[in-house]
Amino acid sequence: MVIKVFGDYDAVSAEAAKLVAGQILKKPDSVLGLATGSTPIGLYQGLIKYFNNKLVSFRDVKSFNLDEYVGLSPHHEASYRYFMDHQLFRHVDLKEQNIHMLSGHFGDAVGECERYEHLIEKAGGIDLQVLGIGRNGHIGFNEPADNFPGATHLVELDRPTREDNARFFRSIEEVPTHALTMGIRSIMKARKILLIATGKAKAEAVWETVEGRIRPQLPASILQLHSDVTLLLDVEAASLLSERLYVLES
Ligand code: F6R
Repeated sequence: MVIKVFGDYDAVSAEAAKLVAGQILKKPDSVLGLATGSTPIGLYQGLIKYFNNKLVSFRDVKSFNLDEYVGLSPHHEASYRYFMDHQLFRHVDLKEQNIHMLSGHFGDAVGECERYEHLIEKAGGIDLQVLGIGRNGHIGFNEPADNFPGATHLVELDRPTREDNARFFRSIEEVPTHALTMGIRSIMKARKILLIATGKAKAEAVWETVEGRIRPQLPASILQLHSDVTLLLDVEAASLLSERLYVLES
């Protein structure tokens, strides 16, 4: 793992945007795995700036998002499709046919998950997967469990995850109880992984990810087994890590 620590959220976001833009420049038809949540908003703003300054184009990029709530239409303000439209998609030249998201409105969950896995495979696999991390160590919506879930699947969300995400809804009761998420194997198949985490609330999960025992109860710990992972952290998220493990960027 390459671990870089920055002074604050803005510096983390700027570095993340640089890495993603660099990936697109190197391979204009990159397949990007994207995340939602508060953490990548600054990264997406950075990418929009690169696009507006004509430094990068998404014309040939394909995107696959990690997850989606069950039961929310793409027009629901808390759906991940709505989030991505507003935070990134409508601001850049990514083509609609190249945007892929799991549908929260499926007839058959297994069929929807298989469809998604098939599309990722058909696209040639994910070149760069962007991840955030939950307080409980989840990546995507792979919650702590007794086994590492393999492929894209239906998941019941943990109470802490629903509490954390209640800020996007009027109340916790409105937060869906289930989601579809890319599985751990789907994530680990990405050629490169970029995990971003900021804030004190993530410090323990980050420590467990880097220095803890690899176990399904802390899903992100599996990243220790991936050969190309970069962690971009702010000083708060990195506060429990042994200093010898990271580079402090000025
Ligand atoms: C979202 C996702 C989640 C979030 C995580 C952190 O697509 O996959 O794993 O990355 O819950 O969320 P924030 O960034 O809101 O703290």
